[in-house]
Amino acid sequence: MNFNNLTLRLEKKQDYRAVEALTREAFWNHFVPGCDEHYLAHTLREAAAFIPELCYVAEVDGKLAGNIMYAHAHVLLDGGGVLPVLTFGPLSVLPAYQRQGIGRRLVEHTRTLAAEMGHSAIFIYGHPQVYSHMGFEPAERYGIASSENMYHDALQVYVLREGALDAAAGRFIEGDAYAAMDEKDVAAFDSGFPPREKQAGLPSQQHFLESSNRFRPR
Ligand SMILES: CC(C)(COP(=O)(O)OP(=O)(O)OC[C@H]1O[C@@H](n2cnc3c(N)ncnc32)[C@H](O)[C@@H]1OP(=O)(O)O)[C@@H](O)C(=O)NCCC(=O)NCCS
Repeated sequence: MNFNNLTLRLEKKQDYRAVEALTREAFWNHFVPGCDEHYLAHTLREAAAFIPELCYVAEVDGKLAGNIMYAHAHVLLDGGGVLPVLTFGPLSVLPAYQRQGIGRRLVEHTRTLAAEMGHSAIFIYGHPQVYSHMGFEPAERYGIASSENMYHDALQVYVLREGALDAAAGRFIEGDAYAAMDEKDVAAFDSGFPPREKQAGLPSQQHFLESSNRFRPR
């Protein structure tokens, strides 16, 4: 970590637009040409599942460099019933600050708070290399598949309360807050930001496509 002056704090209303702009910077052309995560950040705050108490920003020398947002989700248990869990995203770090420990700090800080709040576990669809380095494990280890009952390499979990997933085989349901967004709504929202070129065929996009396709029936 090269930052002497890194602070984490709760997101404030005055940060909303800047957080959306930084989310756009972090995700632009990363997974697909352009991105929609800045619109997700915008809509998530209005969702019933959103958890403002875990919505944190990272500042370096007083300037926003990263953020993380959480929502309630659940596991539909094979034996009947549901287990409430958490999920997060967008998690964003400005490109100039990436790979220097800010993402890790945001995840570690908020998951400590989530554990103190009594939550059971945190699920995330993401890059296994990134999240395994932050202590996450494959959800498959607990018999937990996607909503379509597939084991995805990308679906990972961090247990907050010991034993919380010991009898939790089932399907992870992200919930409506993360449902696919209307492309027209995304484009209309994006038009409020400075124009940026969309690029296709980038290695990170290829990698995302390949890793998204790594799933098999449970
Ligand atoms: C993913 C992201 C949030 C990680 O934040 P970061 O500050 O760059 O990551 P950190 O420096 O805290 O790294 C944490 C661990 O993940 C690993 N890691 C980070 N980015 C990685 C990458 N692109 N590929 C492989 N490993 C990666 C690091 O090596 C580190 O592990 P280590 O300490 O054992 O070496 C950030 O790079 C980002 O905003 N990327 C674009 C948007 C995105 O992908 N968001 C997450 C969607 S699920």
